[in-house]
Amino acid sequence: MTSKTEKLLSLLNGQPVIPVLKIANVADAVPLARALSRGGLRAIEITLRTADALEAIRRVTAEVEEAIVGAGTILDARQFDEAARAGSTFIVSPGITSQLLEAAKDSPVPLLPGAITPGEIMAAREAGLRFLKFFPAEQSGGIASLKAFASPLADVKFCPTGGITAGNAADYLSLPNVICVGGSWVAPDDLIRAGKWNEIEALAREASKLKK
Ligand code: 3PG
Repeated sequence: MTSKTEKLLSLLNGQPVIPVLKIANVADAVPLARALSRGGLRAIEITLRTADALEAIRRVTAEVEEAIVGAGTILDARQFDEAARAGSTFIVSPGITSQLLEAAKDSPVPLLPGAITPGEIMAAREAGLRFLKFFPAEQSGGIASLKAFASPLADVKFCPTGGITAGNAADYLSLPNVICVGGSWVAPDDLIRAGKWNEIEALAREASKLKK
């Protein structure tokens, strides 16, 4: 395992679920991160799918000491650099490209890239990565695919994301090659819009109790 993978695993510190966040209103970023942290989910992924995502990363990094802020939906090297400069402590991408791998190689910030096929997983492995996002999980064979990877790709572990819910997360987490899962179910758009931080905290608390 590379030192950057070790760094990423130590940041996650056994947390079973990484909340995948889409923050439309930057003013929501800090209360949202606080609610998730109170619920036991300190490591969060703020996706670059909204105009103010980088500002959200900066604010949470500056104001929520307990949060471990990652950036998600990173599609290229430029976004990787912007997210790292904004203070992200880890970077998640839906897939894997040579430019992204190059950017990650030159950065101290660990990358969790998506991979679905044996070839993509092998390309990531060649780049020294042993911990990958399996995305989109449910749409790509889900638990059956991950079970099939366990023997031939035995030294690679996964964070399945995409279609994971409170209903199926425990089944994913029971697999030996799954370290954690990612998902948006702990911070649904409507609860964020309504500022229902206590409800998000409760969802996070349930998720944080899932066993790995
Ligand atoms: C995503 O990047 O959209 C994540 O995979 C979250 O997927 P979900 O909304 O199905 O949890």
